Amino acid sequence: MARDDINTLLAKTEAWILPELKSIFDEKDSEDVTVKAALYSLFAGGKRLRPLMMHLTSEMLGLGDELDPDVKYFAATLEMLHTYSLIHDDLPALDNDDMRRGKPTCHVVYGEGIAVLAGDLLLNKAMERLFCICEKKPGYVFAASSMSENAGIKGMLGGQSIDIASEDKEISLELLEILQEKKTGAFIEAAVVTPYYLSKEMIREESFEDETADSLRKLASHIGLAFQIKDDILDVTSNSEILGKSTGKDERDSKATFVTLMGLEGAEKRLEEEIDNIRIILGKFKENGFDTADYETLTDFLVNRDR
Ligand code: IPE
Ligand code: IPE
Ligand code: MG
Ligand code: MG
Ligand code: MG
Repeated sequence: MARDDINTLLAKTEAWILPELKSIFDEKDSEDVTVKAALYSLFAGGKRLRPLMMHLTSEMLGLGDELDPDVKYFAATLEMLHTYSLIHDDLPALDNDDMRRGKPTCHVVYGEGIAVLAGDLLLNKAMERLFCICEKKPGYVFAASSMSENAGIKGMLGGQSIDIASEDKEISLELLEILQEKKTGAFIEAAVVTPYYLSKEMIREESFEDETADSLRKLASHIGLAFQIKDDILDVTSNSEILGKSTGKDERDSKATFVTLMGLEGAEKRLEEEIDNIRIILGKFKENGFDTADYETLTDFLVNRDR
């Protein structure tokens, strides 16, 4: 049977996640301008890569249809957290970007104050959803608390903090890796491992003695690095029409990135190394009888993507 290409996988993911995303705010809430601003960004045309990764882990491990609504619930919650991070990342006080997902950024359309609130709203609503599902299924507490931890100082926010504090400074490669692992890697880790945590109704201690959980976290770490290295490369090599966001801004803002630290060739070499690491881990899953074909398609996209 012919396998889906990346565009088909992304289109299927969008169809899978859309009803869940649309159900987050009720009609009455949607009259509020902050809700409108949050929805503007949530439906602005993101690639939905993190929901795709959640779906891929479920498929690869054969977690089954019964778990699917809960995986989708967590995938939509993660997409809300990711969108919040982008709304705030684009603010004049952070990266000062006026284009995102091919459209004017949230603050350009709704003003800075409402954009700050729209980000807060998505974060707040995501946390509410995590509490609500744990009330129904207490076995999900670890998956939910891990996801919220990945959004916080040990994760995305911690990475953003180092990113902003490092502007105009020369930082070590070691610190850059920590920055990127948190800023981008943490949400990718949540995407790759959450379905497995849900399937096992896993508790924290167990997750560190579980070989599959460990392999998934390693896989996520390499995907996260590869994804951010490519993001840094595209900032230099792509153009805003294709990419859907402005380019050349890392140099403009004296950001610490793989390209500013290692040069374009160095970054490309490092990307190849991360891709090799991903393939090695997928190879091990395959040896253990798991179907890794769609994850391999995603891996090719990590190298070849232009958006
Ligand atoms: C952009 O992420 C921000 C980074 C972590 C580098 P994506 O490239 O996944 O953004 P969308 O969701 O498709 O807009
Ligand atoms: C931001 O990284 C990642 C987030 C946590 C939001 P970048 O600042 O490099 O992302 P882009 O290039 O604006 O999408
Ligand atoms: Mg940034
Ligand atoms: Mg940015
Ligand atoms: Mg970038």
